[in-house]
Amino acid sequence: MSFQVAIDGPAGAGKSTVAKAVAKELEFVYVDTGAMYRAIGLNCLNKGVDIHDEEAVLALLDDTDVSIRYIDKEQAVILNGENVNGKIRTQEVGEAASVVSAYKLVREKMVALQQELAVTTDVVMDGRDIASCVLPNAQVKIYLDASVEVRAKRRYLELIEKGKEADLKTVEDEVRERDYRDMHRENSPLVRVPEAILVDSSYMTIDEVVEEIVSKVRNYEHE
Ligand code: DC
Repeated sequence: MSFQVAIDGPAGAGKSTVAKAVAKELEFVYVDTGAMYRAIGLNCLNKGVDIHDEEAVLALLDDTDVSIRYIDKEQAVILNGENVNGKIRTQEVGEAASVVSAYKLVREKMVALQQELAVTTDVVMDGRDIASCVLPNAQVKIYLDASVEVRAKRRYLELIEKGKEADLKTVEDEVRERDYRDMHRENSPLVRVPEAILVDSSYMTIDEVVEEIVSKVRNYEHE
């Protein structure tokens, strides 16, 4: 069986940065599941489909092909034949992803794809429902958290660095809203499964978080 590392947690806890570095260190494949939901969100925005209209989103889903390819070891999300990696990292697409990911059929389609990726390959997979739903038998399960204030500050600094205008209070409200939606939806809400190891990245460097997770995996292998 493949070795599976599941990393769940709220937006802005540093999951993708950490998961990518852990995968590199362990020579596992990194699977960014948020990117898949972002591709579905992007598709709706591109096609002018109202993301709050579940029926319309599902009708579009039938015509949507999402797959994953690895280009120079980097995950590329292919939406209807196009590599959309350069288009999915915006706040607008993130919000759309958070809304459409609440729909059961959207989740079923993405979860099937994610599970398929992890059957024969050692993976580090990050998302919201990895330990609770996608890879319930993962050998190592991590819940990566950080306080709302710290996550909002990180997001705010990222925006400022990109030369965008931002207001810390507004960013903080957006983070709270996204948390609420991701944690309270009916289908596979973000939860910390009891066996997941809690890592609070609020006052840790990325290297420290990566080191902690890598050592859990190495210790597991030596048990
Ligand atoms: O991690 P991210 O910001 O790229 O995820 C975007 C949205 O996708 C997030 O707000 C909720 C959803 N998502 C999900 O429901 N399940 C996952 N496994 C990953 C992301």
